[in-house]
This record gives sequence, structure tokens and C-alpha cells, in this order.
Amino acid sequence: SGDCDALNYVLLGDVGAGKSSLVLRFVKGQFVDFQESTIGAAFFSQTLAVNDATIKFEIWDTAGQERYHSLAPMYYRGAAAAVVVYDTTNQASFACAKKWVTELQEQGNTNIVMALAGNKSDLLDSRKVTAEASISEAQVYAQENGLFFMETSAKTAQNVNEIFHEIAKRLPRA
Ligand code: GTP
Ligand code: MG
Repeated sequence: SGDCDALNYVLLGDVGAGKSSLVLRFVKGQFVDFQESTIGAAFFSQTLAVNDATIKFEIWDTAGQERYHSLAPMYYRGAAAAVVVYDTTNQASFACAKKWVTELQEQGNTNIVMALAGNKSDLLDSRKVTAEASISEAQVYAQENGLFFMETSAKTAQNVNEIFHEIAKRLPRA
């Protein structure tokens, strides 16, 4: 059909994990080294052809700073899909991602599709051993919690379109 399906996404995760950078890469094909920390939340939309369908991606990019945490439910309650982002070079940001997953499991939509993005994969080459351990930990965690996992890089664009498209494929359509 020529119908345009709107899909509501929310991005959640620690401050500096790269949420805004992933959205900017996906929506505008851009990356900046000094991305400003998000205040409150930002909204983006992008209409794309995915396979046979035309999909309008509507994305809430939330702020990771702790003082904005209480606003998050406003954005994830209406979301069909969530991308929980962490920085693969920062162990604390992985712990933070797990907290978001738990919160979504307890308070998000029952049928929400969740993806875990291990971002900044371009920085991992320099510390291969630790990197591989943390990636496999994230893979196991994702599997146990019904999420799918991808290593992403907003900088090199690795898996950025893929993670948004993979979610779209997994969402039930009318
Ligand atoms: P808040 O809005 O504060 O919650 O942060 P955020 O999750 O939106 O992070 P943001 O996109 O602002 O990125 C934080 C910093 O990490 C910026 O300086 C980015 O340039 C950098 N960054 C984001 N993604 C990547 C990536 O994939 N690789 C590298 N090398 N740097 C990245
Ligand atoms: Mg941001």
C-alpha cells in the first residue's frame, strides 16, 4: 500500500552515550565532535522507504542528565520502540542502560520493541580485549531481556540506519 506508517521511537541512555549523535546521523547524515548535551528533549522526524513501505520515523531524543530523568516517561509512554544507548568505552553507561531497560520493562508499553545500541564502536580498536568482553556481556544481557543488540558508531555511521530499520521490521503493522 502507499500508506505511510508513523513509528514513534524514544532514545534513552546515559549522558554522553551518543543519543543525539545517532539521531543526527540517522536523520541528517551528520556527525559533530562537540555535540551539545540535550536540554529536556528534542524531536526529529524522517520519512523513508523501508522495503515496500514508507515509514515516518518520529523520534524523541531525551536528555541523559539526571535532573531530566523524571521527564522520560512522557516520551517513552507513547513510544512503540526504544533505543537504549550506552557508550561501549564507559562501563558506567552500560549500568545506566540496564536501569533504563528495567524501567521500560516495568513502566513502558507492553509491546515496546527495544534495541540496545553499544555506541562509539569506532573507539574500540585501541582496547580490543576489554571491548570484546564488554560486547559479549551486552549480547548476553540483550538476549536475556528480549532486546536486540547492535554495535553502533554515530561517527562512522556503522549500523545506524540498520538499528532503526531493524526495529521497524520487528514492529507489528496495521
Ligand atoms: P546527552 O544529550 O547529554 O544525554 O548526551 P547524548 O547521549 O545525546 O550524547 P551526544 O550525542 O551529545 O554525544 C556525546 C559526545 O560523544 C559528543 O562529543 C559526540 O561527538 C561523541 N560521540 C557520540 N557518538 C559517537 C561515536 O559513535 N563515536 C565517537 N568517537 N564519538 C561519539
Ligand atoms: Mg543528547
